[in-house]
Parts: sequence; C-alpha cells; structure tokens
Amino acid sequence: MVNKETIKTWAEDGVGVIQLNRPKVLNALNRRMVTEILLTLEEWDKDDSVAVIVVTGNYKVFAAGADIDEMAGDDSISLELLNQFAEWDRIAWVKKPIIAAINGYCLGGAFELALSCDLIVAAEDAQFGFPEINLGVMPGAGGTVRLTKLMGRAKALEWLWTGEYMSAKTALENGVVNRTVARELVFEETMKLARKIAKQAPLSLRMIKESVNKSVDHSTYEAMQFERKNFYMLFSSEDQKEGMNAFIEKRKPNFKGK
Ligand code: CAA
Repeated sequence: MVNKETIKTWAEDGVGVIQLNRPKVLNALNRRMVTEILLTLEEWDKDDSVAVIVVTGNYKVFAAGADIDEMAGDDSISLELLNQFAEWDRIAWVKKPIIAAINGYCLGGAFELALSCDLIVAAEDAQFGFPEINLGVMPGAGGTVRLTKLMGRAKALEWLWTGEYMSAKTALENGVVNRTVARELVFEETMKLARKIAKQAPLSLRMIKESVNKSVDHSTYEAMQFERKNFYMLFSSEDQKEGMNAFIEKRKPNFKGK
C-alpha cells in the first residue's frame, strides 16, 4: 500500500472509510489521490474484516473535481501515455458495496467518482455538476455515460452543456442519489446504511452487485442468464445453508462469507 498523503482511511464495524483529504484545494482529485483511493478499495475488497466501503469528503465538501492545476499543462499524447483513466475503470471492478457520502460540492471528476460508487447519500444542500465545459473540456471518467443512463439523454445533455449545478433535490428526483439528509447527518446516516448492509450475507451482496451491474450494460436476456447462474452459485455456499436453516430454526443467521 502506498503512503496515504491525500486521503485518510479507517475501518469500524465492518465498514472501511476513505476520506478525501486535500482541504486547501477543496479536495481536488489529483492523480495521486485517485491512485490512493483505488489501492485502498482494492485492498479492502480482499480484506474479510471490511464488508462495505464508504467514500466521503471532509464534511464541508466532497470534492471540487479533478485537480485543474495538475491537468492544465497536459496534451492528448501525455494523457494517452499516462492512460489516465485506466485506474478509474478499476473502481467498477470492486466487488464490495461502495457508498458515497456527499457534502457540499461534488463536481466534475468528483461527481464521476460518486457515480462510480454503488449508492449515494447526499446532504440536502449538496451541489452536483459537470463544469468541465467552462474549462473548454468535458468529463472523461464516465460522466457523460453514467449521467445519461440515470437521467436520460436530453436531461443529461442539458446539465453537461450548461455546466450548471444540480441541487440534491433534483439529483434525488432523477435517481442520481439514493437519499438526501440534513447536512450534519450525512456521514452518520451513510454509516448507518453501511453498517446495515455490512451485516448481510457477503456472498449474496457480491452476486447481487454483479447481477445488477450486468443488467445496466447487457440485454435483459443476457443479464437474466447471468443472474440465474449467480443465484445457483449461492446454493453452493455455507451461508445459504446457514441462512435457510436459521429461518427454519427461528434464529438469527451467522453468515461467514463462505
Ligand atoms: N482543481 C484545483 N484547485 C481547485 C479546484 C480544482 N478542481 N477547485 C478548487 N480549487 C482550489 C482553488 O484554486 C483555491 O485555491 P487557492 O486558495 O490556492 O486560490 C481553493 O481550492 C479554494 O477554491 P475557491 O477559492 O475557488 O473556493 P470558492 O468557494 O470560491 O469556489 C468552487 C468553489 C465554485 C467549487 C470553485 O473552486 C470552482 O469552480 N472549482 C473548480 C470546479 C471545476 O471546474 N471542476 C471540474 C474540474 S475538471 C474535471 O473534473 C475533469 C474530469 O472529468 C476528470
């Protein structure tokens, strides 16, 4: 694991927390931060003591986007050689649930990071947006794709073309975030949700995430075949026996992720 210069991390009650930590620049995501986030996600994905991962800002702001100072001197060839977004792709390969807790600004690359997570809990006064157009560029880490899938073509185009900020209320109404809560409760409510999910059968969580993800990018038929295989696969697990026996014996199940 690399030294953590741009994030803070800790784990409690089966929940691993990644806190973005570049407060002087409103948590602008530089390349180091993206690497640190990704390596932590991948490390926890393999760690049995962590069941769910929360990504949060510093309670005032989630993040104001990718680090503009770092990108300003780039050209197409340097970006191609850096393969800048390859690490972002790997976020989508993490098997465990990831929940974003959003306070304040969630812009550009930060919005793309939030949309790469599985669930989003937002402060009532959080602000989302893709202001890249004001910089003469556009989102490059999945923003146009994921926003369009969530909101539909016309609405996504309007937000992406105007670069205006979207309120948490609008984000909620359009299925972009899961729930909105009072600003001071965002982290607490996200942790409550994370702890609840962390108690569920680990293999079921994993197979459900895989199956739901499949449904986003594949035909209904293909996704249903995939879902079925995962359903059958879970019947080879000890947790399926434990879960069903516990129901029959009228007791709480003790899941082991096996
Ligand atoms: N990159 C680098 N530094 C940033 C930054 C960013 N994205 N956002 C803010 N900062 C820095 C500011 O330069 C400033 O630093 P100094 O104190 O040294 O001047 C500090 O953070 C505080 O910011 P402001 O003084 O601007 O704070 P504010 O409250 O007045 O405004 C804001 C807040 C409206 C979010 C404004 O900071 C802003 O517009 N930031 C840029 C937002 C943006 O364009 N994000 C998209 C980036 S491009 C991208 O993300 C590409 C991609 O798809 C990967």
